[in-house]
Amino acid sequence: MFIQIPRGTYDVLPEDSSIWQRIEETARKVCALFNYKEIRTPLFESTHLFQRGVGDTTDIVQKEMYNFKDRGGRDLTLRPEGTASVVRAYVEHKLFGLPDQPVKLYYIGPMFRYERPQSGRTRQFTQFGVEALGSKDPSIDAEVIALAMTFYRTIGLKKLKLVLNSLGDPESRAAHRRALIDHFKPSINEFCEDCRNRLEKNPLRILDCKKDHDHPLMATAPSIIDFLTEDSRDYFEKVKAILDEMGIAYELDPTLVRGLDYYNHTTFEIMGSSKGAISTLTGGGRYNGLVSELGGPETPGVGFALSIERLLLALEAEGISLNNEASLDCFITAIGEKARQKTPVLLHKLREAGLSADKDYMDRKVKAQFRQADRDHAKFVVVIGDEELAGDAANVKNMADGSQEEIAFSALADYLKSKIK
Ligand code: HAM
Repeated sequence: MFIQIPRGTYDVLPEDSSIWQRIEETARKVCALFNYKEIRTPLFESTHLFQRGVGDTTDIVQKEMYNFKDRGGRDLTLRPEGTASVVRAYVEHKLFGLPDQPVKLYYIGPMFRYERPQSGRTRQFTQFGVEALGSKDPSIDAEVIALAMTFYRTIGLKKLKLVLNSLGDPESRAAHRRALIDHFKPSINEFCEDCRNRLEKNPLRILDCKKDHDHPLMATAPSIIDFLTEDSRDYFEKVKAILDEMGIAYELDPTLVRGLDYYNHTTFEIMGSSKGAISTLTGGGRYNGLVSELGGPETPGVGFALSIERLLLALEAEGISLNNEASLDCFITAIGEKARQKTPVLLHKLREAGLSADKDYMDRKVKAQFRQADRDHAKFVVVIGDEELAGDAANVKNMADGSQEEIAFSALADYLKSKIK
């Protein structure tokens, strides 16, 4: 019976996994530069966490979550994003009590959303995200943005556009909310059912509607920027001033409201070139109310997440190849049965000495064994035949220059290590 992979998922085959490893390594290195430490949280959480954290009226919670009951009848959800989980862990482990705040965390791992699959939109996708919890200093907003930009630059992307907005503090949000309701209410019947429901509950979400995107009232909707309190405006000015001084260019977009409810103050997205319709590579922003919403003390937070899937599309669109095929230190080629018997132990010794090594397991002829060594990009091929067995030494061929030497079996590991170093 042939069973296919679930819709919206994919396999990363060995020929591509080195690219993924390179991206993940780069993310880890950049996080180390900025002093962010890794956090690993479960792939599933209580459903309630996302309802509360991400927001009941968001598309993610209403339409896209993989919810299930476990055998104990608990309501669980495959995590659709990382921020709520990180904040839960921050509260649960009382990380707010650590002497060094903000607590600067990063994560790399799969997220799950039941979306309509297309290029750059899958049902399981891998996010690299960072969260800085515990500081409301505008320089930390600039820092997380700088981290994302440094990551993309290190990977090699050039065509990036940073888009910035501020959603202000709760007071700004409340004034904007009232203005949005007044704006949409008279014509709300022209909008989809979701938007009609959103009008009183969360009118900001109307601006994020995919169905009513082109309705003329969208373009004329009141802009949050006009409702920012003085403090919020001042905060946003400071973030922008730091970015200016860092030399990080951005565009302002007052319609950037983001699809998750926890944001306030700074929101941002980074767009890249893409052959498909989706070009948003990264989304993030500040979420000062989330820690207290999830049962912790009043604590500010800011972060972003990007997906490796969209990064790969942007790399493709810019014609950047990250292929770094791994090479093997040594491939052992055996000629004849006796030599074959010697290879498992010899191979094991080389590996124990820290050399990457392999051999033929398919009883192939010498030529075919050499071809495999080539495909594995072996730096050295160790040939063992009757002659070598008699002399207690292997014939070692340096694949880079073709030179050959006889090396005693007992000295083989040291010899290869000295050459490869
Ligand atoms: P988000 O905008 O929902 O934000 O997702 C962030 C990024 O995840 C997107 O920009 C995109 O690169 C990627 N992404 C989202 N959905 C998919 C999908 N179906 N397929 C492929 N890639 C996808 C968040 O998740 C927030 N937690 C970000 C954040 C962290 N804000 C503050 N801290």
